[in-house]
Amino acid sequence: MKDTPSFLVMIIWSFTEMERQSIYHLDERTGSGFVSQDLYLHGYFSASIKLPADYTAGVVVAFYMSNGDIFEKNHDEIDFEFLGNIRGKDWRIQTNIYGNGSTSVGREERYSLWFDPSEDFHQYSILWTDSQIIFYVDNIPIREVKRTESMGGDFPSKPMSLYATIWDGSGWATNGGKYRVNYKYAPYVTEFSDLVLHGCSVDPIEQFPKCDNTESSEAIPTGVTPARRIKMESFRAKFMTYSYCYDQVRYKVPPSECVINPKEADRLKSYDPVTFGGGRRHHGKRHHRSRAGQVEAISI
Ligand SMILES: *[C@@H]1O[C@H](CO)[C@@H](O)[C@H](O)[C@H]1NC(C)=O
Repeated sequence: MKDTPSFLVMIIWSFTEMERQSIYHLDERTGSGFVSQDLYLHGYFSASIKLPADYTAGVVVAFYMSNGDIFEKNHDEIDFEFLGNIRGKDWRIQTNIYGNGSTSVGREERYSLWFDPSEDFHQYSILWTDSQIIFYVDNIPIREVKRTESMGGDFPSKPMSLYATIWDGSGWATNGGKYRVNYKYAPYVTEFSDLVLHGCSVDPIEQFPKCDNTESSEAIPTGVTPARRIKMESFRAKFMTYSYCYDQVRYKVPPSECVINPKEADRLKSYDPVTFGGGRRHHGKRHHRSRAGQVEAISI
């Protein structure tokens, strides 16, 4: 982590002039990336991303929304995180949300993919409304978070900026930190293109919305159609490898919004009996992590 800034590189391709005007380049101590100039309250946010190839253990590419630099104690966050791996093992995707500083309740899910995300560009998108959050990969919804009464402030509800970063997550990203970033294989290059920032930008203090009035295009979803729901369910049945709802090591009682699906429970249990029950229990603490610390290291 010492003097490695130029070894984690983000290349930004083919953003339109308007998109370029709406982002800043981040100059992080140990990575690189960009952040949207505006904060948005709800909207649709998307990018095509190509991840670094070969040995990428410890490398984390993140595409996420956060307001951690404004609300240090009660920030909101919506995450797509890509966790690198040792050579020959695939990248994993993680999604998560925090609301109003709920960093003690991680709501992570992890998935493998039906393609190699380092071979080509694929589209990753977040739809955020006041009632739901949907994560998409190549327009297939992979996760739907419905706002429930019992979630209270844990549902992200304050304006956030959009971030994209590549950084050194040696301490936790691959097998809980067992495999660290190896700078012998640097530079690690991730590429971004086709940025979509479609929402109402708001001043977090004055709360005066300035909406993107371009015609709502068909490319911008508003929810999950029944046909897409079938795709989502089949994605989840095949590719989901972790869900906080079934993690009996972290949550004796699943958080209230969890709807337990016995089939899913069985599948995850056969996959990892320690975490998902049915095997010998370990009571070790899992690593909880907030992005807030990382955001503080960023100078815009
Ligand atoms: C958010 O957290 C603050 C204190 O940290 C609390 O006063 C406020 O009521 C919370 N808001 C919601 C919507 O839960």
